[in-house]
Amino acid sequence: MADETKKQGEKVTARALLDRKVAGPRIAVVTAYDYTFARLADAAGLDIVLVGDSLGMTMQGHSSTLPVTLDEMVYHTRMVSRGVARAHVVADMPFMSYQASIEDGIRAAGRLIKEGGAEAVKLEGGVDVAPLIERLVSAGVPVMGHVGMTPQSVHAFGGFKVQGRTPERRAHILEDAHAVAAAGAYAMVIESVPRALATEITAAVPALTIGIGAGAGCDGQVLVMHDLLGLDPHWKPRFARRYATLGADATRAFSAFVADVRDGQFPTNDESFE
Ligand code: KIV
Repeated sequence: MADETKKQGEKVTARALLDRKVAGPRIAVVTAYDYTFARLADAAGLDIVLVGDSLGMTMQGHSSTLPVTLDEMVYHTRMVSRGVARAHVVADMPFMSYQASIEDGIRAAGRLIKEGGAEAVKLEGGVDVAPLIERLVSAGVPVMGHVGMTPQSVHAFGGFKVQGRTPERRAHILEDAHAVAAAGAYAMVIESVPRALATEITAAVPALTIGIGAGAGCDGQVLVMHDLLGLDPHWKPRFARRYATLGADATRAFSAFVADVRDGQFPTNDESFE
């Protein structure tokens, strides 16, 4: 593992990332949920690989992130950690692994780090989770916050809707961002808010801001792997950009295999043994 890291460059750490708040360049983050894609993302030079609880939707087919369990997050984080030599690995704390008590949160983060191999944890919320962030940071766990449209609150929001459009909600999100930074988080995701608000938060807090649906004014950007790679031909959120169409490519490849098998075109002698 040490040799591998050397080959691909310096290991990315929370501390080194934080220096880029002032010095740049901007931080590129992608989600990954398994060994194969984590390895590809790492080789491509992503700064952070996030094991997002979005896996509840992208990998498990749920309509929200809420059913994802801590055991499942540990399992996926372990796979991702094995594939990453250089990037910084962050694991999401799933719904109700930290909301009931600070002790729950510390134990959940401990499992993601000890069993999963994560180097930081991410959790959603602001003022309410600031005491937990403080405790985790003082226990030596780098924390990434998540403010704005926090998907674990989908039912409270009445859907995955842009947040911060009214003066009250805007003030609330600003207060959350300040609380997360003051508690010691080195970074925070800002999701689905008007770009002016994300830009204002970025200028106001010492933590890195990583935007998704939050405009270009953040210190970095994150995309869900499936959106970036076009794995679902039927789904493209407005804020995402497709850099490939792997979903359509996969369907074409599967269809070609079906046709070759049915026509007796696969395998050839070169694809079998004497
Ligand atoms: O779960 C996730 O993938 C996330 C990103 C969208 C930031 O939280």
